[in-house]
Amino acid sequence: MEIKAVCGNILEISADAIIVNLFEGVKSPGGATKAVDEALNGTISRLIEKGEIKGKLKEITMIHTLGRLASERVVVAGLGKQEKFDLDKIRTVTAEACKALRKVEAKRVATILHGAGVGGIAPEKSAQAIAEGSILGLYNFRKHMTKEPEHGEIEELLLVERSEDKLPLLEKGIKQGIVLAEAANFCRDLVNQPANFMTPTHMAEAAQEVAREWGLEIKVLEREEMQSLGMGALLGVAQGSQQPPKLIVLSYRGNSESKNTLGLVGKGITFDSGGISIKPSEGMGEMKGDMAGGASVIATLRALGELKPKINVTGIIPATENLPSGTALKPGDILKAMNGKTIEVITTDAEGRLILADALCYARNLGLSPLIDIATLTGACHIALGDVCTGAFTNNQEILDKLIRAGEEAGEKIWQLPMYEEYKEQNKSDVADIKNSGGRWGGAITAAQFLAEFVEDTPWVHLDIAGTAMLDKERNYLPKGATGVPVRTLVNLILALSRE
Ligand code: BES
Ligand code: MN
Ligand code: ZN
Repeated sequence: MEIKAVCGNILEISADAIIVNLFEGVKSPGGATKAVDEALNGTISRLIEKGEIKGKLKEITMIHTLGRLASERVVVAGLGKQEKFDLDKIRTVTAEACKALRKVEAKRVATILHGAGVGGIAPEKSAQAIAEGSILGLYNFRKHMTKEPEHGEIEELLLVERSEDKLPLLEKGIKQGIVLAEAANFCRDLVNQPANFMTPTHMAEAAQEVAREWGLEIKVLEREEMQSLGMGALLGVAQGSQQPPKLIVLSYRGNSESKNTLGLVGKGITFDSGGISIKPSEGMGEMKGDMAGGASVIATLRALGELKPKINVTGIIPATENLPSGTALKPGDILKAMNGKTIEVITTDAEGRLILADALCYARNLGLSPLIDIATLTGACHIALGDVCTGAFTNNQEILDKLIRAGEEAGEKIWQLPMYEEYKEQNKSDVADIKNSGGRWGGAITAAQFLAEFVEDTPWVHLDIAGTAMLDKERNYLPKGATGVPVRTLVNLILALSRE
């Protein structure tokens, strides 16, 4: 799909459909909706009067113009209550309208800039949100479908603006929206791939391809290098699998004057069976998505390669399967991480924190700061926050506050959970420095406290995306399956940091 800003009058655009809008409760439409209503001899007003159009969020009304306008159809998209209107509603409304139009085989679609008038939203931001909403909303994962899809795709989306001088701003917003949404969709593709198509080797290849395409540096550490670095925790998890583990190190260098490099560390468990502490079989297939944190790091670096901000960022992805076998890690085993700390394995299903322990040590050794790790780490976080918010933990409030802000901009909610000292007690082992499970209560927090032991004094944020990385049914512009969270947040944060 091509997205363009065009100068013109929405009444004169010839397209398969034009999208206008209505706030909830508005009885007589204004602006472009009013002009379209007049051209349609008051059809929209009549539908409002009859209660068929209410303006409720996500309400889509499709009207055939029968020659009264240059376009074949008009879509009146409900924006919901005006006081609740924001950029995320623009993404949602655009996604709904585009999905409805795809179903009727619309190929060329024009839209007004939602919110840019009475909504009080900057035209550039509206354009970005429309680009994001359409690309994110129309996503589907068909890599393994041999049948043709039921419908075609929208080929062209035109953002119609009356004044010529606003076009450059709109184009800037569109470009930004395309890069962010395509990066999120790239992340979704990696996460949606089943584990037989997304082994640690495949993940490393995907990163290599991104590096080649966008001019990033890449290094992939093999088992032997992990051994010489003393990465006993990562190797412990990997020892049950036939697939060789990989430690992917992907770097974007956009500021040669600065010695500072931000570190992103993403959990890359390409399949989590639980290991010897095996998970129940029901729903185990979901665990193909246990590399979503790692995928989000690769996708974020890809967007940086495209946007080229003035900042240095290195992504680190420890990638392995977690499987039971005759060589697998066992409960009771003791592992030694790269920083020398010993870990008692209470359960082999708490493997994420084990591989992250070594990856965080490695990141620290590279001098990366601050560090942000992203992981589908705990079922406890999913239970605490559902699939709406990502859980966040930090030893540095300033960075987390910036990340939360970046998330608000992206429409990706982040909720902070506490790191009180008292929780550390639960991670104490009788036989090693620490154990890999603090028990049921506060499971997301004790997991974060575990990671904190390997981060030490480096400024750090931990994002637990166990609830938000995948959805079991679609929501607004997020499809069922992988969501691409928190790629757009991370890119927003990095752009904001690069401007500081
Ligand atoms: N990958 C899982 C966490 C998870 C659960 C992600 C549900 C997405 C959806 C993680 O490795 C895990 O198994 N965690 C255990 C830890 C426990 C054994 C201490 C959990 O949360 O049950
Ligand atoms: Mn697990
Ligand atoms: Zn896991």
